[in-house]
Amino acid sequence: MSVDRSHAPTRDARAADAPARARVLVADDQPDVLEALRLLLKGEGYQIETARSPAGIMAALETQDFDAVLMDLNYARDTTSGREGLDLLQQIQAVDWTLPVVVMTAWGSIDGAVEAMRRGAYDYIEKPWDNQRLLATVRNQVEMARALRRGQRLESENAALRHNGMPAMIAESPRMRPVLELMQRIAPSDANVLVTGEHGTGKELVAQWIHAASARATRPLVTVNKGGLSEGVFESELFGHVKGAFTDAKADRIGRFELADGGTLFLDEISNMTPAQQAKLLRVLQTGELERVGSSRTRRVDVRVLSATNADLRAEVAAGRFREDLLFRLNTIEIHLPPLRERREDVPPLALHFLRRHAERYRKQLAGFDASAMQALLDHAWPGNIRELDHAIERAVLLAQGELVRAADLALRAGGASAGPAGPPRIEEMTLEEVERVVIQKALARFDGNVSHAARALGLSRSALYRRLGAHGL
Ligand SMILES: Nc1ncnc2c1ncn2[C@@H]1O[C@H](COP(=O)(O)OP(=O)(O)OP(=O)(O)O)[C@@H](O)[C@H]1O
Ligand SMILES: [Mg+2]
Repeated sequence: MSVDRSHAPTRDARAADAPARARVLVADDQPDVLEALRLLLKGEGYQIETARSPAGIMAALETQDFDAVLMDLNYARDTTSGREGLDLLQQIQAVDWTLPVVVMTAWGSIDGAVEAMRRGAYDYIEKPWDNQRLLATVRNQVEMARALRRGQRLESENAALRHNGMPAMIAESPRMRPVLELMQRIAPSDANVLVTGEHGTGKELVAQWIHAASARATRPLVTVNKGGLSEGVFESELFGHVKGAFTDAKADRIGRFELADGGTLFLDEISNMTPAQQAKLLRVLQTGELERVGSSRTRRVDVRVLSATNADLRAEVAAGRFREDLLFRLNTIEIHLPPLRERREDVPPLALHFLRRHAERYRKQLAGFDASAMQALLDHAWPGNIRELDHAIERAVLLAQGELVRAADLALRAGGASAGPAGPPRIEEMTLEEVERVVIQKALARFDGNVSHAARALGLSRSALYRRLGAHGL
């Protein structure tokens, strides 16, 4: 968070333009400062309200919605301790902890800024401020808060959905949009689906969702975890056996395929099957027929098969360890789940989702995360993906003492972050050039690479965006 005191670049930094209809409350007791900030932000397209005292700020917050607050820390005319501002921060957090507050501090009073961040400020600006840096900071906070609030809304919608039997599935990020669309499209069909992705990315949850959204939803979803089955058990587990088929077969046993008749069978960890098991499974998938172990009677089953693996099955096929004809039976449709580090927009809503769940379970009154905790969550690489996030939040819920989870409760620094690719650099540590590049990439991702749409969102002409794409080598 070093402060760049160089002159503002002559090139206009469009990266700082206001997100659509963003409303910012600006507060300072010096009229000239207030006016300068109002003009600066208004010029970028923000809707601005102003306040000149702590009471004025609270009054504005009670009656209106804002995307961010930009406020000075010092109000009492004859003191510069920032006390009033610090107390105010806590009051604002109590009203709405998702509202980002950026504080302004006198140049050199770094302690005040640090204390403010500890008390819940999302960022700080030193006076005299650098226009471009201020704009980039405000924009960044507005965007982050919007993602967070969207997540909250989605979470309550999901809670409603869950009551209708659908598992809560949080997928807000652009990366997940095509995945969700594909799931919706293929769920009602009887197509076999192979779900792939790293550990903990939600493969089983996707299988549950597809079953719940299918015409088979009223019939059972039966799971077989191939990872846990020895060669001998596999056959009788899947196809059942008759009494006396082998020494331990004291009674008839119905296999998973028959249990799933009319419904869905979920084969988890399929890459671990031996050649003999693969051959047996293939036959049932091809014919819809099976025999219980020890019986010669052929039974017909009507089963939709969903399967999951975190292995690269094509590589397994190439290496001769997995039958290609079986792969083709299983992956009529393939759904690939991206790792959490490639869908960071989902981190805040997922974190909230798990926070609510665990807070309820452990009977703790927790409203959310403070700014430091949210930043730590966003910075972490999540090599264990959503399951790791779930566990980190559970631990934090147990450790948290106040109303909000703090970064220290998450204990994320040790290990984790180094185990996967590093998270994105913090915006405060980037040059304006780098910020622009990131904002352009985000806009393109948001509109699936559509340059016209991205240009409009960035407030640029198409040709201006193309020029910048060229300049950034994008
Ligand atoms: N999009 C999501 N929204 C909410 N919770 C999720 C989401 N994805 C995964 N989870 C939760 O994260 C945990 C891990 O998910 P799941 O067991 O489905 O992962 P997996 O890919 O099957 O992992 P593994 O490869 O280790 O078996 C579960 O508790 C699941 O409910
Ligand atoms: Mg799994």
